[in-house]
Amino acid sequence: MRLATLPLLSLLLSAGPTTNAYTPLSDTLLRAIPGPLPADFDPHPDTSPPSSSSSSSSSTTTNTSLLAPLLIPRVPGTPGQAAAQTHLASFFARTLPEWELRWHNFTSRTPATGDRDVPFANLVLRREPPWARRRPGSAGLLTLVAHYDSKMLSGGEFVGATDSAAPCAILLLDGEEAFVKWTEEDSCYGSRALAADWEAATYPAMSTFKNPLRQISLFVLLDLLGAANPEVPSYFQSTHWAYKKMAAVEGRMRAMGLLETKPAKPFLPQEHKMATQFDGRGFVGDDHEPFMARGAPILHLIPSPFPSVWHTLDDDGEHLDIPTVRDWARIVTAFTMEWLDVQKTEPQR
Ligand SMILES: *[C@@H]1O[C@H](CO)[C@@H](O)[C@H](O)[C@H]1NC(C)=O
Ligand SMILES: *[C@@H]1O[C@H](CO)[C@@H](O)[C@H](O)[C@H]1NC(C)=O
Repeated sequence: MRLATLPLLSLLLSAGPTTNAYTPLSDTLLRAIPGPLPADFDPHPDTSPPSSSSSSSSSTTTNTSLLAPLLIPRVPGTPGQAAAQTHLASFFARTLPEWELRWHNFTSRTPATGDRDVPFANLVLRREPPWARRRPGSAGLLTLVAHYDSKMLSGGEFVGATDSAAPCAILLLDGEEAFVKWTEEDSCYGSRALAADWEAATYPAMSTFKNPLRQISLFVLLDLLGAANPEVPSYFQSTHWAYKKMAAVEGRMRAMGLLETKPAKPFLPQEHKMATQFDGRGFVGDDHEPFMARGAPILHLIPSPFPSVWHTLDDDGEHLDIPTVRDWARIVTAFTMEWLDVQKTEPQR
């Protein structure tokens, strides 16, 4: 569906040393997940300086749009892409300094650019508990991915709001919710408790992974999200179990009134798809392919049909459905929390 499969924004989060115990979040924990701030997904945030009443407040550093700085043309090798890189990297440096940031840079020629070498830069953010940092390759990694470049489209400024500015902003929020607000603002679930829990657990001798790719316990690719009424099918039988977990999270959040949208069908409508219904034809070519070819389990969050604005100049901030973007952020964050098994650290009453 695109000529290049890069560059990517990847968040690698390590789960506990064992992957066998998957416990759904309690209602209390699900309710406690902080929602997005009004500014997070505002395509046109008020950029005027904060009012005098809050002139000395530091809240302006966090209450800024995650999305708006990405709503510019971001073609590899252009100043727009450099600006997007700065936004992503400085978000982590400022808000999530304990994440390890790595660039994976290379150059390549593309059909559109002929003999010119175009610079590409994948941005990889990694967050592991102390024991895993001491023993690289020992923890499975939940890998959340979106591409942050935009397609070259003639005839105007293509900003690719669903493709994939909004998915990248969702990942930024996810990283933030999972590791800043959750662990630091909510005193019940201190990061220390999580780390201690992980440290106390022993991992079996067999649990060391051969290479970083094998370490990917699930590769979640977000693409073309942000239009209203999305329907994301379950594409792969091998990861349908993970799809079902996320669909269940969505269903519970809807039932509890934690989501804003009221679509006729859920965003993830195929929770009950049967094994016999996977015919291998619904596949959408995308950034996950090189990983899938090497055996990584893929959960592809891409709607079918694609948004009507796909690959048109209308794929911009005005055509995003912001409540849908915010609900995706809530669902992906809750799924991530569940995956990281925070339930185990919930204090027993
Ligand atoms: C963030 O900014 C918005 C205006 O853009 C304001 O309505 C909201 O109260 C602010 N939230 C915080 C937590 O400062
Ligand atoms: C890789 O690319 C990024 C983004 O352009 C840049 O900030 C960084 O300095 C580069 N790193 C290296 C080692 O070239």
